[in-house]
Amino acid sequence: MRRDYSLTGAEAATAVASGLAEGHWFQAEVDLKRLSELSERSNSRAAVDTLVWVGLIIAAGVLAWNVRSTWWAVPAFLAYGALVGGAADARWHECGHGTAFRSNTLNDLVYYPACFMLARRPLFWRWSHFRHHTDTIIRGRDVEIAFQRPTTVPEALLRFTHVQGAFTMFRDTISTALGRITDVERQLMPSDDLPRMVRDARVFTSLWVAAIAAVIWTGTLWPILYIGGPTIYGGWLMVFFGITQHAGLQENVLDHRYSTRTVLMNPILRFLYLNMNYHIEHHMYPSVPYYRLRALHEEIKQQLPAPNPSTLHAYREIFTAFRHQSVDPDWEIPNREIPDVSGRRAPIVQDIAWGRAGDSIDLGPADLARGGLRPVRIDGQDFVLARTEEGSYVLADRICTHGEADMSQGVVLGCEIECPRHNGRFDLRTGQPTRKPVREPLGVQPVTESEGRLYVHGDWGLRF
Ligand code: FES
Repeated sequence: MRRDYSLTGAEAATAVASGLAEGHWFQAEVDLKRLSELSERSNSRAAVDTLVWVGLIIAAGVLAWNVRSTWWAVPAFLAYGALVGGAADARWHECGHGTAFRSNTLNDLVYYPACFMLARRPLFWRWSHFRHHTDTIIRGRDVEIAFQRPTTVPEALLRFTHVQGAFTMFRDTISTALGRITDVERQLMPSDDLPRMVRDARVFTSLWVAAIAAVIWTGTLWPILYIGGPTIYGGWLMVFFGITQHAGLQENVLDHRYSTRTVLMNPILRFLYLNMNYHIEHHMYPSVPYYRLRALHEEIKQQLPAPNPSTLHAYREIFTAFRHQSVDPDWEIPNREIPDVSGRRAPIVQDIAWGRAGDSIDLGPADLARGGLRPVRIDGQDFVLARTEEGSYVLADRICTHGEADMSQGVVLGCEIECPRHNGRFDLRTGQPTRKPVREPLGVQPVTESEGRLYVHGDWGLRF
């Protein structure tokens, strides 16, 4: 019997009642300074990768056009389709997290076209992916569980055609363009994002209508082989990578080491997939950009299960799981050894006693590097001491206003701090949200520097 994955069914209520919803997830231990280095963003690195990808799309598209009256058009269009309808998925993903480029504008500049290539509504999928990271393959919570139990082997193989998947995407986008809002969308998204979702869907639908009009006008299929069609005939590459992420692994567990898979892949696949094969690492630390995931893997691999040594190995594991789970949905993959990390050190927190100098609290020496973060505790209350890249210090609340994330594991970008869990951002000077999904401001207090020491003034509405 198929398990219940709906957001309104019994499993959804169970997830909330049992503490699985918005739960506290296991994280591998990483030194905070190292994590900050690994979370650095590079516009130039992401730009080079993006330009190579776009260059390949143009080259495949031109080649396909030039050989369109020969059988060579078949492999040429297959390559074009895979780059558009398949490789766009990894670009959508990284730019949606805001981690590919340092600049938010550049991330959005790639995110929206990638959404169009995949027929994904930009805002809905941003919010659904926030949920996926909050409740990764928790039944009744995660709307991105691609391979629900039981998935049979024929069903899984059929998914590679992406006909049904693409049809769902087109149908949902057109439905949104007509102004229809579903319960799932209302549940996942804030109401003020709904009009923009409709507007984006109308833009996408108009472009598809234009492609179909061009088909009628020219009397050929070429226009939809370039626009819209790749979402269907190139989608196999997205499924090829996506299936390795969570398929067949344990559901309803607050530890990505059980629910997520890291697979070692060759450099060509890693380029197409933007290193998302390091998927456990990505889920544990979504603030680390794709080009540093390999380094993060080296940093924490002792605390993770051994990666699948090849894509073929991962596929064998997945299809074995599908075979067993189609008979017994409770069947789990055996011998997936998860290292015992019970002896881990607790994170080091600078503990500050209730010691005031006049009306100020002494936070210690001004020795934080620019862009640095340090957890501090003042009389049992948790904060994070942050230093902007411009050099000023700020004392901020340690827990993100969107969820239970520890901001000391985040990253400072200019004068902003980014949450490590969903990449929401706050302006450190004002505490105001600057990037979704955060909506409530973060408590921030300016810190002054005097004779090499840092002080926060005592009149800031202390909750002591
Ligand atoms: Fe979601 Fe911070 S917990 S952005």
